[in-house]
Amino acid sequence: MVILFLYIIKLKEESCLFLFPQKKKKKKMEKYGNGEQVYCVTGANGYIGSCLVKLLLQNGYTVHATIRNPEKWSQLLSLWDGGKKLRVFKADLEEEGSFDEAVKGCHGVFHVAASMEFSTIDNPDFEYVESKIIEPAKKGTLNLMKSCSKYKVKKVVFTSSISTLTAKDTSGKWRKVVDETCQNPIAHVLNAKPKPSGWVYVVSKLVTEEAALDYGKQNGIDVVSVITTTVGGSFLTSSVPASIQVILSPLTGDSKYLSILAAVNSRMGSIALVHIEDICNVHLFLMNHPQAHGRFICSSGSCLITDLLNHLKQHYPISNPNPIHRYATGGLNSIPCEISSKRLKDLGFKYKHDINHIIHQTIACSLDYGFLSSSPLN
Ligand SMILES: NC(=O)c1ccc[n+]([C@@H]2O[C@H](COP(=O)([O-])OP(=O)(O)OC[C@H]3O[C@@H](n4cnc5c(N)ncnc54)[C@H](OP(=O)(O)O)[C@@H]3O)[C@@H](O)[C@H]2O)c1
Repeated sequence: MVILFLYIIKLKEESCLFLFPQKKKKKKMEKYGNGEQVYCVTGANGYIGSCLVKLLLQNGYTVHATIRNPEKWSQLLSLWDGGKKLRVFKADLEEEGSFDEAVKGCHGVFHVAASMEFSTIDNPDFEYVESKIIEPAKKGTLNLMKSCSKYKVKKVVFTSSISTLTAKDTSGKWRKVVDETCQNPIAHVLNAKPKPSGWVYVVSKLVTEEAALDYGKQNGIDVVSVITTTVGGSFLTSSVPASIQVILSPLTGDSKYLSILAAVNSRMGSIALVHIEDICNVHLFLMNHPQAHGRFICSSGSCLITDLLNHLKQHYPISNPNPIHRYATGGLNSIPCEISSKRLKDLGFKYKHDINHIIHQTIACSLDYGFLSSSPLN
């Protein structure tokens, strides 16, 4: 018990505000552009958005950060420390023209904002899904894309999700390798009975990604989609990001997030993770890379849900974690398929963090924040 306590104190002492170290600045500037461009980041107060703004500012870019609710930006302003290089705009995807001012004068837009609604009623009819989920999702994306057209923005990097993919082939068998072509068919999600946890989010990501890519093709905007796996590591937000809560759900026992973790596992056969620093670097890398077109999976690696539990226990050694087995069906003991980041790596991107480090830092920051107790009860 004493050893456990000392171990947790050590974890807490490790700085988790250490997001993107300054000493790497020069290298990043050479690698990811010259820092003279102006970029817009939507959803700037969210988990990924807030860290991406910080990364861009650290690399010398001018940033137009959009936030839906002005009350949410005061704490971030001091953390970003952007001075004259930072402008903050209020913008809501549901309002037409809302992004006009923010994208004006920008060389590129990082479209990170998205509704994070995971589930709604269990068995909605077609009309409900069409009018309450699909149409608003499409409209929100098109509102932003139309602002981009109006102000001649050339490139949009869209933050997509691994939920747009499936590791099962059309006959329901596990694939050996999952790449960008392994699309999760929207009909499959809509027809599933009962609907998997997080199905609203899955539908919304499928619809918005398609709308952004199609609009780009039709209107001469280069749209690149970053297929993001579950993100962990440090965070700047004032509340604990949803993805951190998903990763830690076997420790916290939060049934909402445990069931999302289990749904991801059932669809992918494993849990793929990426570090917040790597996902932000990927966004910037793809924005500035002249040969980056289409969709790119961004995953540092994946592990079986049972291995995730072992990783968690290694860094937060409680004796009695919550029963993943009760939630997880499928892929529990199978050989995980490879969730391939080959397209991204072939373009020259190099990851900095492996799964072990992602889990380690997720736990360190959650202890520091007080989300995980430094004296676990069980
Ligand atoms: N984190 C992950 O593991 C993960 C994995 C795959 C994909 N992604 C994608 O990454 C993006 C960011 O996710 P996150 O983890 O950073 O989530 P987050 O912290 O919840 O951030 C979502 C952001 O979107 C904004 N937003 C939501 N609805 C909006 C609207 N109608 N108009 C304007 N802004 C709106 C939110 O603003 P409010 O604060 O006002 O709600 C918030 O800033 C999303 O596109 C998500 O699908 C994330």
